[in-house]
Amino acid sequence: MALLPIICYPDERLHTVAKPVTAVDARIQTLIADMLETMYESNGVGLAATQVDVHERVVVMDISEGRDAPLVLINPNMLWISPEKHLNEEGCLSVPGIYDGVQRHDAIKVEALDREGNARFIEADGLLSVCIQHEMDHLLGKVFVEYLSPLKRNRIKTKLLKAQREGRVAKLV
Ligand code: NI
Repeated sequence: MALLPIICYPDERLHTVAKPVTAVDARIQTLIADMLETMYESNGVGLAATQVDVHERVVVMDISEGRDAPLVLINPNMLWISPEKHLNEEGCLSVPGIYDGVQRHDAIKVEALDREGNARFIEADGLLSVCIQHEMDHLLGKVFVEYLSPLKRNRIKTKLLKAQREGRVAKLV
């Protein structure tokens, strides 16, 4: 396994639209193992392949307290979203040190392949629902700060570019 470098906002590569995985083979298994290791090492609850510069529809998550319940979604497809939404505080490993409120659907239903390539159906609410919506956005090239006002987004851009220039991004995570 290997730790993968995480792309930081406002890197343009974060806006790449990911392609479907065509085969859950050894290459994808290695990618998943590396993504999980990278997510755990960074203390994140979710990571999309887009964030490690692989533009295929793969996300990994773990919202458990014990950090021992990985969830892998390959080619996730949203089947249903609840009309009710609410505001949640979100952060992102690609936007280190920044947390802000985003409106997300309360509940969702998703179909996806698991890490063995088996079809799965997931009903989620609460944190898992928020996390899946956040990660699926990454696969469409969308970062959570794009839900914020242009003023806030520009402030975040300036702050992160300054941190990247000064080489202190790691300290913001
Ligand atoms: Ni994120």
